[in-house]
Amino acid sequence: MKGIILAGGQGVRLNPLTEITNKHLLPVGKEPMIWHPIKQLVGSNITEIMVITSTHHMGDIVNSLGSGKRFGCNFTYKVQEEASGIAHALSLCEQFAKGDKIVVLLGDNIFEYSIKPHVQAFLEQDSGARVLLKEVDDPRRFGVAALDEKHVIEIEEKPAQPKSNHVVVGCYMYGNQVFDLIRKIEPSLRGELEITSVNNLYIQQRQLQYSFVKGRWADAGTFSSLNEANQLMLENDNRILI
Ligand code: G1P
Repeated sequence: MKGIILAGGQGVRLNPLTEITNKHLLPVGKEPMIWHPIKQLVGSNITEIMVITSTHHMGDIVNSLGSGKRFGCNFTYKVQEEASGIAHALSLCEQFAKGDKIVVLLGDNIFEYSIKPHVQAFLEQDSGARVLLKEVDDPRRFGVAALDEKHVIEIEEKPAQPKSNHVVVGCYMYGNQVFDLIRKIEPSLRGELEITSVNNLYIQQRQLQYSFVKGRWADAGTFSSLNEANQLMLENDNRILI
């Protein structure tokens, strides 16, 4: 099992905080934001981790994280030159994955509880992929899922009229087939290779399973969600609950 942390983008929604450093190095509680996904992966026994960033402030990321020794893991770095979407960033990891299962975390997603039980469930899964879901009040800025008992049956990316309050959070688990599926998708209207398009291909094969995230969750990409993530981590002293 290998881990992938996506820490690209220019963080324009957080300007001017992101003028001189990468969004994922901003503080969340008492630590840089990106320490959270690193600790989630290491806490799930995943220690081979690829970090993908844009050229924008890439140097700051490497200077800050180093080899991974202080976290008990080993980092490989990769540059995503253009903001071409989550699925595009993931396509850069094919060689790194080398046929292993992968857990992908968006670098700005903060979870109150460990993702380890979900990683365990995916390890026990014979085939397909697994996404994590959370019920939220305003689902319109996320991927929104419709479900049956075991599978996700549809995901709509940022729908104006969401059909449910269950959103897909930034933690995705895939087998090696994901790279073939990424080659099949087309850019969306916003010009990106969307991870939702990849997940919808798994859905067509009835191969997308899900679990619900326990406790609080925030994606720290806007001022209000960054504030939420900060409060959550300050309250818990940056500990991830089990
Ligand atoms: C991305 C995904 C979306 C998901 C969200 C979670 O959105 O496209 O499906 O719900 O991450 O943080 P983006 O951050 O690109 O707006």
